[in-house]
Amino acid sequence: MNWILISTSVEMTEKLGEEIGSRLVSGDCITLDGDLGAGKTAFTRGLARGMGIRSRVTSPTFTIVNEYNDAQGVPRLFHFDTYRLRSSEDFYDAGLDEYFDREGVCAIEWSQVIEDALPEERIALLISGTGEERKIQIVFPEKYAPLMEQVRENMRKEGMRFEDSGM
Ligand SMILES: Nc1ncnc2c1ncn2[C@@H]1O[C@H](COP(=O)(O)OP(=O)(O)O)[C@@H](O)[C@H]1O
Ligand SMILES: [Mg+2]
Repeated sequence: MNWILISTSVEMTEKLGEEIGSRLVSGDCITLDGDLGAGKTAFTRGLARGMGIRSRVTSPTFTIVNEYNDAQGVPRLFHFDTYRLRSSEDFYDAGLDEYFDREGVCAIEWSQVIEDALPEERIALLISGTGEERKIQIVFPEKYAPLMEQVRENMRKEGMRFEDSGM
């Protein structure tokens, strides 16, 4: 499936993350692509909130991956920023692919750098635009359709626009 969403504020992008995050389970993977300042980290901040993680999410630009592991029973979040990697070879060399087999949710900024190392089943976001209005393309496999329908229903109440992607 392939949806186009329009976010008109950083809060709306965060809320989208929260709505999705509250429905994810261990083993799920979200990829986030788009230029610097597109809203990848903003989305992840909401995602973490939706997962019940209380600590503040900051960009793992220098550490490549940040691990959020607070409250008991809450799935752990592995937040990647692969901007500094050259290719999936760097990713494998650092043993980072092992995170895909761990208990937790992976959120990966700049995932295109390591595209051939990514799990096939994933929710992929591509964010574009400047100013307050951002276009968010979400591509996801069929198994996420019920989850995404719930997200759509709730986000419409928040004023988010859903446009026909033509697919
Ligand atoms: N609709 C929007 N969605 C997300 N961010 C927005 C939006 N409008 C403005 N912004 C601003 O854009 C910036 C996004 O930054 P960030 O999430 O760190 O981007 P990235 O991680 O993609 O580099 C923030 O300063 C945020 O306030
Ligand atoms: Mg970022």
